[in-house]
Amino acid sequence: MEFSADAYHQALRFAAQAHGEQRLPGAPLPYLVHLAGVAMEVMATALLPPGAGALDGSGEAAPFPLQLAATCALLHDTVEDTQVTAAAIEREFGPAVASIVAALSKDPQLPKPEQMGDSLRRIAALPAELARAAAIVKLADRITNLQPPPAHWSLPRRAAYQAEARLILAELGPLCRWPPLTRRMAERLQAYSAFLGAP
Ligand code: NI
Repeated sequence: MEFSADAYHQALRFAAQAHGEQRLPGAPLPYLVHLAGVAMEVMATALLPPGAGALDGSGEAAPFPLQLAATCALLHDTVEDTQVTAAAIEREFGPAVASIVAALSKDPQLPKPEQMGDSLRRIAALPAELARAAAIVKLADRITNLQPPPAHWSLPRRAAYQAEARLILAELGPLCRWPPLTRRMAERLQAYSAFLGAP
């Protein structure tokens, strides 16, 4: 599993500059806290033994794409939430990172309820190894976001957020081919039920 600390620093600085003064929704913290959380989820899961679900057709465990997934974790919201374009990402980080970040970005031209399904379809349509890294980042993103919801969120809104997370797991779990990550997502989904007010 190859990993360059220098490449990580480069992506971290690029993301910090792009997101500038942005804050976490509902918290007086820099947006970078979210990005570092997603990158940490990617790196933490890479350290776990993969188990049988990571085997490819030849019976070998497919190596975890740590460098690509960690870089894309840091950059995953740049195109969606900042002035940075996919072309700028491509110049700085190459075409693989750029196409993953583009697939992870919601299309603002579409009606809101269609945006997630559209992004999931574009992730699945990537070449297999890129789709795998994109799926890893998207699952790490939602794991990071399955925190206690803001107090003002209604029960239906919370339920919809959990249902959307279930859809993400159903669509991307098989693509990521990394059982420790899908297990963690399933655990976080289960824990989120505590915020739905069910007895
Ligand atoms: Ni995110």
